[in-house]
Amino acid sequence: ARIRRYKWDVKNEYKAPDCFRKLVITINGQTPGPTIRAQQHDTIIIEVTNNLFTENLAIHWHGIRQIGTPWFDGTEGVTQCPVSPGTTFTYRFVVDRPGTYLYHAHYGMQREAGLYGSIIVGLPDGESEPFTYDYDRNIILNDWYHDTTTDQAVGLTSVPFQWVGEPQSLLIHGRGRFNCSSLPVPSSDPGLCNTSYSDCSPYRMIVVPGKTYRLRISSMTSLSALSFQIEGHNLTVVEADGHFVEPFVVQNLFIYSGETYSVLVTADRDPTRNYWITSNVVSRAPNTPPGLGVFVYYPNHLRRPPPTDPPAAPAWNNTIPRMAQSQAIKARQGYIITPPPVSDRVIVFLNTQNRIDGRVRWSVNNVSFTHPKTPYLIAFKEHLAGAFDQKPPPNGYDDVNYDIRIVQPNKNATSSNGIYRLEFNTTVDVILQNANTMNPNNSETHPWHLHGHDFWVLGYGEGKFDKFSDPGKYNLVNPIMKNTVPVHPYGWTALRFRADNPGAWAFHCHIESHFFMGMGVVFAEGIDKVGKLPSSIMGCGQTPSLYRP
Ligand code: C2O
Ligand code: CU
Repeated sequence: ARIRRYKWDVKNEYKAPDCFRKLVITINGQTPGPTIRAQQHDTIIIEVTNNLFTENLAIHWHGIRQIGTPWFDGTEGVTQCPVSPGTTFTYRFVVDRPGTYLYHAHYGMQREAGLYGSIIVGLPDGESEPFTYDYDRNIILNDWYHDTTTDQAVGLTSVPFQWVGEPQSLLIHGRGRFNCSSLPVPSSDPGLCNTSYSDCSPYRMIVVPGKTYRLRISSMTSLSALSFQIEGHNLTVVEADGHFVEPFVVQNLFIYSGETYSVLVTADRDPTRNYWITSNVVSRAPNTPPGLGVFVYYPNHLRRPPPTDPPAAPAWNNTIPRMAQSQAIKARQGYIITPPPVSDRVIVFLNTQNRIDGRVRWSVNNVSFTHPKTPYLIAFKEHLAGAFDQKPPPNGYDDVNYDIRIVQPNKNATSSNGIYRLEFNTTVDVILQNANTMNPNNSETHPWHLHGHDFWVLGYGEGKFDKFSDPGKYNLVNPIMKNTVPVHPYGWTALRFRADNPGAWAFHCHIESHFFMGMGVVFAEGIDKVGKLPSSIMGCGQTPSLYRP
């Protein structure tokens, strides 16, 4: 195994990823940031310098379990104090499994300012995947707002509440195309929106006829669930969140924020033309034009547009094919990690929208998550008992007759920074239960992401989870392991994991504004087994003043 060192300069810059110029956050001048490429068991050392003028920073390594290094998970308020402007913070961790992962800011809603990128971990020399391909390519999908993160955060915490709305553009590998003439007030500044900016020339993937590509596709959207398609080409799904999938073929791949997939695609169509690469919003009434890229057959001209219209998107409000894809994802034969047959604890998470003190919030079992000033990991290790609410949030919801299909008052919702303590080395089941929002006939899709672990996806269902009959339908034979999973509208999703990674770990909806509005929890386990904390993570809240720089 090798050591791979990176030096990152994080700063504000003007960029126009979708032709509209705005202030973004770049890493070494780029958004998406540089791709981290490594091999299994390598150590990654990243020296991050915060050159933002006035903003703190924290970077999370999404999908990396941080075994033995829970303090480098990069989650502000949970595992570290934020990195203040003008300072350098060094992350150091081992990538212990091959696969496709992500990194992104994990401080407030900073991620959507453009601080995100990919981590690609290959197998050690001499080992190979159970599938073959000629080339390896990587695409990150995103959605994009023209408002700044601060505008949005203020809107979401104000009375009256101001929702962020639908994104202006969809980006394919950091590139989109906003229709400048649709700006509400035409700007006198010709530089504000200009389709000739090179930042917004479409993403083009050049393929050699007859060759097979492993295409890594991940989603870092702030809000949108997406359908991804390469016009006329089948996609064979082979990897999900770093685990091999029993291959299955799709025409379009549904992908939720925080998920990663690998698909195999062969350039086996008429090579005299080019094809569209598209992303479309699903699960919310789309008010954002599709993301467009071009699949270019070599040696056709790069700029030659496909002769056809972009393929139509699947109906945004049809949950059936999305549920079907979720259920089709199984662990690959020969690579199955069998889950424990029973669990020690079952926690039910009822996902609701609530109003607290006049603001719209998201809650889990009527508790809306707030970040403490002192990160949990430090609070535990330094015995700062007053640092957060010691009362654990509820293990489920009590009302057996709770109707998930109607608007509920959810009157008793409170905000809290209390957390779930898990017995070390036990097996925990989590049932994500979706419900109606505060709008009639509306339930959203929430991609839930767990830090520090992979979980088995035991099953999905429609309606209300039945604790007597539904567990009997769990897939205990070949469930996929993932770190991010959707709970579909009015549905439930059942997960199982081993609480075997000492640390404090966030588990939250990966929709940036939902987590900001309280849609998350924190699990802590094996705290007595956590090693000595590095002093670099200290410096905020009640963290020992001794450590303060
Ligand atoms: Cu990719 Cu806590 O998130
Ligand atoms: Cu959500």
